[in-house]
Amino acid sequence: MAVSGAATLDKHANLIANQLVQHRERLLEPRKEKILRPFSYKEACHYLGVNQNQLRHALRTNDSLPQGTMIRGTRRYFQASEIHAIRDHLIAQNRLESRDITRRVGEEQPVVVASINLKGGVGKSTSAQHLTQALAMRGYRVLVVDLDAQASLTQLFGTIPEREPDMLTLYHAIRYPDGDDLSQTAQTDIRDVVRRTHIPNLDLIPCNMQIMEFEHETAGHDQRRSPFFTRVEDALAPIRDEYDVILFDCPPQMSFAVMSALFTCTSLLVTVTASFVDVMSLGTFLGMTGEMMSVIEQRNGERPYDWIKYLITRYNPTDQPSVQVAGYLRSILEDSVMTNEFYLSTAIADAATSSDSIVEVDPGAFHRQTYQRAWESVTRVTTEVEQLIHEAWGRDEHGA
Ligand SMILES: Nc1ncnc2c1ncn2[C@@H]1O[C@H](COP(=O)(O)OP(=O)(O)OP(=O)(O)O)[C@@H](O)[C@H]1O
Ligand SMILES: [Mg+2]
Repeated sequence: MAVSGAATLDKHANLIANQLVQHRERLLEPRKEKILRPFSYKEACHYLGVNQNQLRHALRTNDSLPQGTMIRGTRRYFQASEIHAIRDHLIAQNRLESRDITRRVGEEQPVVVASINLKGGVGKSTSAQHLTQALAMRGYRVLVVDLDAQASLTQLFGTIPEREPDMLTLYHAIRYPDGDDLSQTAQTDIRDVVRRTHIPNLDLIPCNMQIMEFEHETAGHDQRRSPFFTRVEDALAPIRDEYDVILFDCPPQMSFAVMSALFTCTSLLVTVTASFVDVMSLGTFLGMTGEMMSVIEQRNGERPYDWIKYLITRYNPTDQPSVQVAGYLRSILEDSVMTNEFYLSTAIADAATSSDSIVEVDPGAFHRQTYQRAWESVTRVTTEVEQLIHEAWGRDEHGA
């Protein structure tokens, strides 16, 4: 019996959408909103970049500092906001090394990064989620921008597009003015689009299917009057200086919105898995992106990036074929490939089923070694990204 393509696909789409809404309602109920767990003494030391004695000394000699809360009698835990307050104090007292001063100073400019690859499922959103959360915990003021109509990242931050049909997204800030008034850079004030998240220092610009409108409108818009590739930069301009790091999570396809984001980026983070098929499609993606950028550069001049790095994701160091492909990629792209890989981990996959990252999740919910291995992998990648950020800021921290 023949099946109607449109009707059947539509029916299946609705069935899945309804089930997903129910699944998410169950996950987020009754809290509705994500709440960040408190962090142990050891974790607080890690995020501050001090040892336990240094933190103990700082707390003992400054009653006004948040002292954390005793949980289960003996263990002291700190809220993220308390860790940030302690860091502010240590910076003011000149107690931190340059690498732990996780804020721009002087002329240092925000680092604007895209997590990008045209290939689907290569860890773009997972990397964006983990990096932005880990960087925010380290004290950087971070803005994460979802550019994907699938809204994966938006959902990882606990915002469910189906629940908020009128949600303001990046689209509302980059769409073209209705009339001829080109002085109006965006229809919606960017500040109305930015949302605070459950992690202090970390803001989100969400996305939903509406971003596709930008593609249609760009196709019909007179590009000589206001070119599409400056839309994202113009929209972010009023708030850019409020952040140390801005990170775009790109969809697995090239679009005008992605190109516009690439135009405002100062660096690129290309996520790639250690598989030959992915490396082959990476070549195609890079060639295509390079061509498109050269068209924009011809019109607007070259905008050099501070760095372009390849992050190997979902990496299994015990799988020989993966190790070989990673080695092969390094032999071709040399030190453009990041030294540290983002490990494939059941802890990361399991945490993702409830939209949590390894930063947010309660370590007690996992086998200790499984958690530790995933956390250390995320930490090593984050530390390497921090070094790139500080290099872009012109800090000389070699051997620090
Ligand atoms: N390090 C990891 N360990 C285990 N699972 C991972 C890891 N990184 C990503 N995943 C899982 O792989 C899947 C794809 O990851 P993700 O959504 O981050 O990829 P993506 O490149 O953003 O995909 P898309 O192209 O659809 O946007 C997700 O289910 C995610 O939970
Ligand atoms: Mg994604």
